Amino acid sequence: MKIVVIPGDGIGKEVVPATLHILQNIDLPFEYIHAEAGDECMEKYGTPLPDETLEICKESDAILFGAVGETAADVIVRLRQELDLFANVRPAKSMKGVKCLYDNVDLVVVRENTECLYKGYEFDVGDSAVAMRVITRRCCERIVRFAFELAKRERRKKVTAFHKANVLKKTCGLFKQVFYEIAKNYEIEANDYYIDAGCLYLVMKPWMFDVIVTTNMFGDIVSDLTAGLVGGLGLAPSANIGEKYALFEPVHGSAPDIAGKGIANPSAMILSACMMLKYLGFDEVAGKIERALETVISQGKTTPDLGGNLKTMEFAEEVLKTYKTFE
Ligand code: NAI
Ligand code: MG
Repeated sequence: MKIVVIPGDGIGKEVVPATLHILQNIDLPFEYIHAEAGDECMEKYGTPLPDETLEICKESDAILFGAVGETAADVIVRLRQELDLFANVRPAKSMKGVKCLYDNVDLVVVRENTECLYKGYEFDVGDSAVAMRVITRRCCERIVRFAFELAKRERRKKVTAFHKANVLKKTCGLFKQVFYEIAKNYEIEANDYYIDAGCLYLVMKPWMFDVIVTTNMFGDIVSDLTAGLVGGLGLAPSANIGEKYALFEPVHGSAPDIAGKGIANPSAMILSACMMLKYLGFDEVAGKIERALETVISQGKTTPDLGGNLKTMEFAEEVLKTYKTFE
């Protein structure tokens, strides 16, 4: 299987090697193909996403993506659109040994990934500026169906829609309408909240939620909030899934404030790789890596963001060592 690896910028270049250190020491039928993208790539080649990188991605079985910096809109947002990676799956689960607001959070945000305000249709109009929010029936249908299928397959069987249909009557109105049309085809509990109230409940009673489905920008914001609920960006993985391709990346960016120090938490990247392994059918390996990572963290062996003093690579080595004890 061909795995395209794009480390990117900043801590992307630290958490990706740490993750590969684990994967390459496990018997997996993968060929890793490295590709460039991001700010540094822009400086080198004058483009943040060379055609060559895009072409390599189109021949992959899966893509592992670290993080890029200021070119994010031209790299990751473009990759999602070019490869039609319409579903962004962002789980948030409390982990033993991680200090956070609640110890019983277990939810997943399913974010539409290809339209909404992130189409980037922005215009100057005189001395003002206008952005167009595009919501199509087709994209609403496929993201809502994806959320219900996920709930049916692996979750606790409840789906909640977040929107603002009282104000955005057309765009959010369409999303809400499609949500309940699709919900009828499933024997799964379905409800909805206005995005603002939904955020309130997420902070006060996050255990109310199982699968949350929402449009692109709301999903971007809400998934950082849910990452914050369970210990921060160092622990938040994600998958971008389409019909043909899939890309796996941590929710975080290139973190210039800590880049180059070797102290970034690679957990989000490692857990993203676990999502990739499950997508490719290696559920057992994924489960064991997740268990190894939780074990290491619960023993207090962590990077500084979680209160410990391990370096990025040292943490990965601990996870690998623990994994090997499960074999
Ligand atoms: P960020 O996610 O890079 O960092 C936010 C905060 O979380 C920082 O204090 C950082 O040190 C911390 N943090 C993030 N990941 C961490 C990890 N693995 N371990 C420990 N601490 C971690 O977001 P920020 O600062 O808003 O953006 C920095 C750059 O990243 C910008 O240029 C932005 O455009 C880009 N970005 C790229 C994304 C991507 O490639 N998908 C996503 C988000 C931002
Ligand atoms: Mg974000």
